[in-house]
Amino acid sequence: MHRYAQKMRQLFRSLLLLSLITATSAQAAEKIDLIIDTDPGADDVVALLFALASPEELNIRALTTVAGNVRLDKTSRNARLAREWAGREDVPVYAGAPKPMMRTPIYAENIHGKEGLSGVEVYEPKKGLAKGNAVNYLIDTLKAAKPHSITLAMLGPQTNLALALIQEPEIVQGIKEVVIMGGAHFNGGNITPVAEFNLYADPQAAEVVLKSGVKLTYLPLDVTHKILTSEARLKQIAAVNNKASKIVGDILNEYVKGDMEHYGMTGGPVHDATVVAYLLKPELFTGRSVNVVVDSREGPTFGQTIVDWYDGLKAPKNAYWVQDGDAQGFFDLLTERLARLK
Ligand code: RIB
Ligand code: CA
Repeated sequence: MHRYAQKMRQLFRSLLLLSLITATSAQAAEKIDLIIDTDPGADDVVALLFALASPEELNIRALTTVAGNVRLDKTSRNARLAREWAGREDVPVYAGAPKPMMRTPIYAENIHGKEGLSGVEVYEPKKGLAKGNAVNYLIDTLKAAKPHSITLAMLGPQTNLALALIQEPEIVQGIKEVVIMGGAHFNGGNITPVAEFNLYADPQAAEVVLKSGVKLTYLPLDVTHKILTSEARLKQIAAVNNKASKIVGDILNEYVKGDMEHYGMTGGPVHDATVVAYLLKPELFTGRSVNVVVDSREGPTFGQTIVDWYDGLKAPKNAYWVQDGDAQGFFDLLTERLARLK
């Protein structure tokens, strides 16, 4: 009996040690130094609240805005609104490119409303924009950053980052990873039969980023169209019963209508918020490293992402393409973070 008790005591001690090591390593997990580039946009605002509610994991250096869903003045105001709603006016907002690099500008007011944010009242937020253009902010910050230390979350057309890369290619030294909501392969497009909006809105910019050699992760429609709202999930968010969850519920109730109708789905995607979930809990998602090219030629495939999923061309893998995700795990995490806000 004595030997058995001794063995049990040893086992208990090693389990205790193991749990302590796991706990400390989780705490000590590196914070992600993050810049979020965004064109709010309904799903952008949900993503921003999600990210701004997660300071333990995300050290958000700045929000940089770009024209996309709506014009730059409105995407910049909406980013400032999201910041105010999250109680995070410590995070600066820099306005960036007012239009795509080459193509004629397009917008998505039909989906996001004239103000770029339907379902909620929009107004002039208290705190203004930071001084200076987002492109210069990206250049200065990434040039001065420790090697490969800063992650970029791209939630709209990639114009700002592309312009920064063209002006100062050596900024790649400061970039750890670029996580992009954009593209479509298995799913087909949402703005044309083959193109997703962010890529279609500035394919030349996406090409510059793809060719920069930085570590890229794409969250395309292939995965965002598998992470859909439902009555139960909207109820789950509403049950949080604070201001932030009310705002998210009101935004989503309006925002998902377009996709539900267009695709005949029982729920709608929250595209940009999947980027934040990926940063916080990558284990919710699966994908593979692939070669991706984007078509910037005028014509029916303008803005299409061509993904060599089966590596037929044996071309260099230039992106991690996320193809699947745990939908309920996403909504559980989003709900848990919204509950941390007021
Ligand atoms: O196609 C979806 C993407 O386009 C999202 O980022 C949405 O906000 C729009 O910008
Ligand atoms: Ca967006």
